[in-house]
Amino acid sequence: MINISHLKKTRYIPRKIPTDVSGLMFVDGKPQISRDRESKMSKKLWGGRFTSDTNEMVNTFNSSIHFDKRLWREDIQGSIAYCKMLGKQGIISDDEAKKILSALQEIYSEIEKGTFIFDESSEDIHTLIEKVLIHKTGTLGEMIHTGRSRNDQIALDTRLFIKNSTENILQLIRKFQLSLIELAEKNQDLIMPGYTHLQRAQPVLLAHHLLAYYEMTKRDTQRYEEALKRTNVLPLGSAALAGTTFNIDREFLANELNLQRITANSMDAVSDRDFMLEFIFISAILMMHLSRLCEELIIWSTQEFDFIEISDSFATGSSIMPQKKNPDIPELIRGKTGRVYGHLISLLTTMKGLPLTYNKDMQEDKEPLFDTVDTVEKSLSIFSLLLREIDFKKENLKKATESGYLVATDLADYLVTKGMTFRKAHHIVGDMILSAQKKNKELHQLDLYEMKHFSSLIENDVYGWLDPASCIERRDIKGGTGPKEVKKALRKA
Ligand code: ARG
Repeated sequence: MINISHLKKTRYIPRKIPTDVSGLMFVDGKPQISRDRESKMSKKLWGGRFTSDTNEMVNTFNSSIHFDKRLWREDIQGSIAYCKMLGKQGIISDDEAKKILSALQEIYSEIEKGTFIFDESSEDIHTLIEKVLIHKTGTLGEMIHTGRSRNDQIALDTRLFIKNSTENILQLIRKFQLSLIELAEKNQDLIMPGYTHLQRAQPVLLAHHLLAYYEMTKRDTQRYEEALKRTNVLPLGSAALAGTTFNIDREFLANELNLQRITANSMDAVSDRDFMLEFIFISAILMMHLSRLCEELIIWSTQEFDFIEISDSFATGSSIMPQKKNPDIPELIRGKTGRVYGHLISLLTTMKGLPLTYNKDMQEDKEPLFDTVDTVEKSLSIFSLLLREIDFKKENLKKATESGYLVATDLADYLVTKGMTFRKAHHIVGDMILSAQKKNKELHQLDLYEMKHFSSLIENDVYGWLDPASCIERRDIKGGTGPKEVKKALRKA
């Protein structure tokens, strides 16, 4: 944490605007258009048509500043682009634009430095920035909202926020993938049981198992990239809902803000949140993928499986049971997945009954969005580190692969190569397993005489077939667990 306590804090106290006997207000010697009733209402952005103050509880209930202040960067970036555009279009003069711009940049750097106090009596981040801008520039600041509404402003801010967050998450996914690939490379020759129904099924390479998660997260990356195309769209110019009478250059704004397109319908632009839902949905899928790997790590670290050891620095103990070493980190990532699922349902529910266009219900979109970003970023970051702290127990993996009849399919395949149909071979191997179980033996522990009792096609070469390493070797099919294919996949990843 950077200590900023020594920096000077600037608190913005709204200026008391002087009025003369005619009732006209003067700021910097210039008459003002608005009436000042000296009530709190005159300090509200929308106070003009109100004659009495807002109930304090309404103020608190209505306010979103304590969470949407997180959008300060996007809000100021949007205003900077908007101000440039107003100047370029001659809606305000070049000189006015310059002064507003420098005040906006000043606010930006004050917040960055930590000298800015977020006055929580403001309704939301847009109101606060505009208020401070007016404090700094007087009447000039009052021009920034020309042709703009908080409705298109918040749509822009959240789009920019999702764009930035997505770019960060994409980098974190890549880091996670690199840790995964490193772990797979470190244990390239390890064979383990592959499971279906959590029952031992067939031998696989551990690297193949891990690379399955590489593929899942690769698709997550593609989904985020695909969704970005629909997020990187400029809503400004839509104003409250119907567009604006001012000659706003929307393409210029899109270009300034590095957005690919402009929205095609102002009513859609201010009232839809599907871009946000898509982001949360994709995040929910990503978390589900992480959670499944977490579940495996948890199972693998039990005494029952005993496939891995998570280093002490990434595990915790019990306050009462001295022997315990618990896999809290994978458990927490698995647990936090539920939060993101919840946010998706929460926002879908918020949106489902809203008539066009903007409704205040939509202010409820921010906390789910922010928590989704935090959860995904933190989970990916710690997971990348955790993967480096895992040791596989080679002997235990080997033992687990050698018992439980994992080579049964291969024995059936063997009989097929000797001329039997697969269904018949399946049946015979089933019989062999029943008999082996009774003798408490694995298939490779039956002698040739015992084997031949089931089929005369079986010869001495069967023992080579039943070695798990050879089972893997034979699966050199594209996308299979054959060592050459896995090596290729690793290199590609
Ligand atoms: N704080 C609002 C939100 O997050 C911004 C838009 C408010 N617009 C309005 N007309 N009240 O949705």
